[in-house]
Amino acid sequence: MTTASSLRIGVVGAGVMGGGIAQSTAAAGYTTVCTDIAEDALDVARTDALESRFGLAGAVQRGKMTEAEGDAARERITWTRDFEDAAHCDLVIECVPEKLDLKLRVFQDLDAASPEASILASNTSGFPIAAMAGATKRPDRVVGWHWASPAFVMKFAEIVVTEATSAETRDAVVEVASQSGKNPIVVKDNPMAWGFVANRIYMAMMKEAARVAEEGVATHAEINQLMVDCYRWPVGPFAMVKGAGSGWK
Ligand SMILES: NC(=O)c1ccc[n+]([C@@H]2O[C@H](COP(=O)([O-])OP(=O)(O)OC[C@H]3O[C@@H](n4cnc5c(N)ncnc54)[C@H](O)[C@@H]3O)[C@@H](O)[C@H]2O)c1
Repeated sequence: MTTASSLRIGVVGAGVMGGGIAQSTAAAGYTTVCTDIAEDALDVARTDALESRFGLAGAVQRGKMTEAEGDAARERITWTRDFEDAAHCDLVIECVPEKLDLKLRVFQDLDAASPEASILASNTSGFPIAAMAGATKRPDRVVGWHWASPAFVMKFAEIVVTEATSAETRDAVVEVASQSGKNPIVVKDNPMAWGFVANRIYMAMMKEAARVAEEGVATHAEINQLMVDCYRWPVGPFAMVKGAGSGWK
């Protein structure tokens, strides 16, 4: 695994994505604080990150890390309802549900609570990063870091920069993503369109898949299988929606 860094990472929202993101940054060597407003969400995230198929135990079993590395990663993560604890990190990754008003509120709260130098990143699936930046007094230190599920396994890292994002912010997040075993690609924020690159193209495909099913051309299961067989996708479009919503157990 990669080397440890003194950078501390905060994760806000311990749902399907946040828990896996905390697991990924901790495995990369970063001290990580994962917070949620719900205790039960923290319990599920902790269990998933440590024990599930894509958790640290699974990674040890598959030979992706040694038992000592798995134990060290586990020790690096704090699971807490204390928002301030996560906000006081050098890089905070927001992972609350995809509701713009909620995200804007969280960015305002983070801006108020985080040290001036901290970078605030959003794992939004597609809301403009400029909107989040506009909720803060530090637009140069706001960036998008869009992950894919399961976060620990997928190499996907869409780094979204606005016109205000500084080069230092961009480079720092690219570095953390690389250290976390991801393949970061920097793209431009486009406030006129939802979805950056991956989700814009994915949504166009989903729309067509739904139309094909509605027309009675094929069932969801048949469409899934055809896309897997034709394009070597790991799962078909409808299975993808299910996994993104409830996780890959
Ligand atoms: N699920 C996916 O495959 C996927 C992939 C990429 C990006 N995303 C994006 O990641 C974000 C999170 O998605 P998810 O699927 O993990 O959602 P989720 O509903 O599974 O988890 C969100 C968590 O945020 C918590 N939360 C709500 N308000 C909060 C607050 N004010 N402070 C702290 N925690 C709070 C909730 O209790 C919940 O546990 C969304 O923006 C989503 O669009 C999701």
